[in-house]
Amino acid sequence: MNGRYYITTPIYYINDIPHIGHAYTTCAADVMARYKRICGYDVFFLTGVDEYGQKVEKAALALGIRPQELADRMVPTFTDLWGMLDVSNTGFVRTTGADHKKVVQYLFEKIRKNGDIYLGEYEGWYCIPCETYFTELQAKDGTCPDCGRPLERLKEESYFFKMSSYGDPLLRHLEEHRDFVMPDIRFNEVASFVKGGLRDLSISRTTFTWGIPVPGDPRHVIYVWFDALANYLTGIGFQTDMDRFERFWPCDAHLIGKDILRFHAVYWPSFLMSADLALPRHVFAHGWWTVEGQKMSKSVGNVVDPVGVVKEFGTDEFRFFLFREVPFGLDGDFSKEAIRARINGDLANDFGNLVSRSVNMIGKFLAGKVAQPDKTGGTDAHLMERIEAHIADYEREMAVFSFYKALGAVFEITALLNRYIDTEAPWKLAKEDPGRVPTVLYNVWNGVRIAALLLYPFMPGKTVQVWQALGIGKAIGKASFEEERRFYHAADLAPIEKVAPIFPRLDK
Ligand code: MSP
Repeated sequence: MNGRYYITTPIYYINDIPHIGHAYTTCAADVMARYKRICGYDVFFLTGVDEYGQKVEKAALALGIRPQELADRMVPTFTDLWGMLDVSNTGFVRTTGADHKKVVQYLFEKIRKNGDIYLGEYEGWYCIPCETYFTELQAKDGTCPDCGRPLERLKEESYFFKMSSYGDPLLRHLEEHRDFVMPDIRFNEVASFVKGGLRDLSISRTTFTWGIPVPGDPRHVIYVWFDALANYLTGIGFQTDMDRFERFWPCDAHLIGKDILRFHAVYWPSFLMSADLALPRHVFAHGWWTVEGQKMSKSVGNVVDPVGVVKEFGTDEFRFFLFREVPFGLDGDFSKEAIRARINGDLANDFGNLVSRSVNMIGKFLAGKVAQPDKTGGTDAHLMERIEAHIADYEREMAVFSFYKALGAVFEITALLNRYIDTEAPWKLAKEDPGRVPTVLYNVWNGVRIAALLLYPFMPGKTVQVWQALGIGKAIGKASFEEERRFYHAADLAPIEKVAPIFPRLDK
C-alpha cells in the first residue's frame, strides 16, 4: 500500500443538466483515481452537487417549484451520467445535507473566532429584476450584462472575510509550492492576481434566502462559494468522521475548470489558513471545450449532452477522446468528426488492429497458448527496454496530469509492437524458424497486455475486454501496477482465440 490519495471535482450547479464540461472534469478525476488505485493507493474520489444560491433559486422560481424540489429532481441526471461514464467516485456531496450545513457553519464560526470575519456594507451595481450585483467592469455602460436593463447603485449589509490579510501568506505559499497551481500558466495567473492586491470578500447575502444561514444571524445566508468550497471537507467526514478526515486531508488534487481558479487558488486557501487547516497540495485547472469552433452556450443551442455522445460512440470511446484529443490544461474543440477520427485512427486502426492480429496469430501459430520464454536477448530485449522507457514516460506524465502525453507514450508502444510484428514476421518464422515463434508472440502478447494496462484508467471497460482476449480474465487493475507492468508469468491463461473486433471501425 502506497498511502492515500484524495482527489475532487467541483460540485456542479443543479440549475441545469450536465454537459460535456462537467463530464470532462469528472472523467479526468476518474482517470487519476483509477490510476492511483492500480498504483496501490487508498483513493478517495469526491464529486457532488452545489444546490444553494441565487442561480438555483431563480431556476426553481421559473419552474414554479421550490429549490429543494428542483435539486432533488436534478441530482439523478448527474448520478446517472456518472454511472454511464463508469465514474468510480467514493463520495458524493449534496450541499443541502445536514452534515454539510454543520461543516459550513463550523467553518464560518471558526474563521470569525480567529478575527477574520466582520460585519460591513456591500456596495455595487445591482440589477433589480435579475437580483444580481455586477462589478464596475461588468457594469461599465450602466446596464445589466444579462438583461440589458439599467443598473442601480445599492448597498446592503454583509459579512466580510478579511481577504486583504492573506495576500502575503498566499504569495509565500505560492513561492514555496511551485506546483500548488497547475499548469504553469494558471500558476502565473494566480500569482499576478494576488500581487495586484486583495480586497475583502463579501461572504453573506440578505437579498435571497436559499442558502445556509449565518450562525447567530439568520437574516443572512452564507455566500454560495464559501458554502460550496467547504464541500471538500464535508465529503471526507470533517466534523462527522474525524478519523477519515485526518486520513485524507489535505487533499491531493482539486481538479477544476479555468473559470473557477480564483475561488480555488485564492479564496479557498485563505479560508483554510484562517481556520488553521492544511492547504490542498495541487489545484489543477483545465481548459474549456468549444463546439465546432464556437463557444458552447444555451442561446446558440450547441450545448453537448454527454448522454447522446455516449449512446452514439460508447463510454470508453468518449472518455478516450477527451484526453487524447486535447492536452489537459488547454482549450479544445469538440465535434463528432473529431471523435469519429480518433475512434477510427487510434482505436480501430492502431490499438484495435494490434490486439486482433496478436490474438489471431497466437491462435493460429501457438494453438492459443503463450508462455514466458526462458531467455531473451537481441531484438527482444531491445523491444522490452523501449517499452520500459515508454512506461516510465507514462508514469512521469500521469504524475503531473499530462494525460495527453501519457497517452502518447502508450501509442508509442503500440507503434513499436506493430513494427516488431512486421519485422519479425511470425508467419515467415513459422516456416523458417518455428522455434522462435513462441518468443516473438509472447513479447507481442506481453506488450499488448501492458498497453491495455496503461489504457485502463482511460478505458476501464474496453481494456478488460482486451485482457480477456489475451486469456487473462477480468483481473486488470487488481494486482499492483508495479507487478503488472513487467514481464509476466503467463500462468493459468484461458485459450487465446480469435475475437470480434473490440474497437470496430465506424462508418460515416
Ligand atoms: N458550483 C460551481 C463549482 C463549485 S466547486 C466548490 C460551478 N459549477 S458549474 O456547474 O457551473 O461548473 C462546473 C465546472 O464545469 C467548472 O469547472 C467549469 O470550468 C466546467 N465547465 C463549464 N463549461 C465548460 C466547458 N465548455 N468546457 C470545459 N469545462 C467547462 O462552477
